[in-house]
Amino acid sequence: MLRKSKITLALYERAKRRFPGGTQLLSKRPELFAPDQWPAYFSQALGCEIWDLDGRHYYDMSHNAVGASLLGYADPDVTRAVVARVEKGCISTLNPPDEVELADRLCEIHPWAECVRLGRCGGEACAMAVRIARATTDRSVVAICGYHGWHDWYLAANLGAEDALRGHLLPGLDPLGVPRELRATCIPFEYNDRDALERVFDEHGDRLAAVMMEPARNQDPEPGFLEFVRDGAHARGALLIFDEVSIGWRLHHGGAHLRFHVNPDLAVFAKALGNGHPIAAVIGTRDAMEGAHTSFISSSYWTEAVGPAAALATLRKLREKDVTAHVARIGAMIMDLWREVAARHGLPVSVPDGYPCLARFAFDHDQANELVTLFTQLMLESGFLAKNAVYPTLAHTDEIVAKYAEAVDKAFAEIAQAIERGDVTDRLNGPPAHEGFRRLL
Ligand SMILES: Cc1ncc(COP(=O)(O)O)c(C=O)c1O
Repeated sequence: MLRKSKITLALYERAKRRFPGGTQLLSKRPELFAPDQWPAYFSQALGCEIWDLDGRHYYDMSHNAVGASLLGYADPDVTRAVVARVEKGCISTLNPPDEVELADRLCEIHPWAECVRLGRCGGEACAMAVRIARATTDRSVVAICGYHGWHDWYLAANLGAEDALRGHLLPGLDPLGVPRELRATCIPFEYNDRDALERVFDEHGDRLAAVMMEPARNQDPEPGFLEFVRDGAHARGALLIFDEVSIGWRLHHGGAHLRFHVNPDLAVFAKALGNGHPIAAVIGTRDAMEGAHTSFISSSYWTEAVGPAAALATLRKLREKDVTAHVARIGAMIMDLWREVAARHGLPVSVPDGYPCLARFAFDHDQANELVTLFTQLMLESGFLAKNAVYPTLAHTDEIVAKYAEAVDKAFAEIAQAIERGDVTDRLNGPPAHEGFRRLL
């Protein structure tokens, strides 16, 4: 049994009394992995290795900072660029020149785009893109598909609706604190569902400012779907916004939309763009960005210098190392090993045919959540941060995947035994993982 990381777990107990929700990002709540077991804090993170506050070492075979680090933690080239910048000053009364260089790089990679605005976080940049689209079109309604952050404009989709964002976000999100007056300003539709979007066009077409969506999340769009969305939006005078916050750079160098040859009017980037340093961008055509001239969009820390310096170093390395090819290969290896090891132990595991750069598996069992929690617990014992999804990075080598394969083999063997004996819950050293959003205290 795992000797618990006492200092690390104690700090989280303290944090829960201080921070409503425990952590600043829902996806980093230990309760979503293995309550009372998952080490909430790191003292060091290098490559795909993490040390908790008790000095325990793990390989990160989970979501790797929800995809915010595609090169691996503390990448030496990015760190060098950041340290050089820090030593020369990160902020001043004047603006950082790297921001212009970064804007040029983004428009070179996306030749359809001519203008850029920078922010620091994904949800913030999505809100910025929606503001720009509303200002440019002088309309209010936005149709969405996917997760686009925590802001009012987005959570408004759940106002007066029965969990309309289920499937796009997380079940259980009440739009508490979001003005009721925003009702019917954000309308969700399902990916690849032309009829659903057609209904949105019919009902809201003349008030539609934009259609905002992830161009892809787990798999390619059906042939013609993205073109259908683009043409339908344009026919109603609305803009198309692609949210590339999670999939950008990971599936394709630049936006995933480049792979599908469908250009939006605006696109949003964050996460992997700074490889762990906050930087986000909205890029767009000159016409679509018109609203950014007239709408007030401004923030002090959007002028700090580390984000652009980190992004330039990250973009250079992402290209040089062909990171998209690397993460696709590592992810495919991991998906194969899940299939092979599960078959060997007779475990009911399915591995959907999604993108290997966002590899995932599921237990096809009525105790699926307990089984995933038990998997996390067993993997922690073997020195891995793991759940049922892996977002590979450049730092994940074949050797690390081989070590992971051994640990998965051991974990799957024990899980098969637990299922056979019917004692899955008894084997858990804490409660099962939470599924979705809920109050902690
Ligand atoms: C597609 C997408 N958009 C927006 C966001 C929000 O980004 P952030 O967490 O940086 O605010 C996320 C985060 O997971 C995302 O996946």
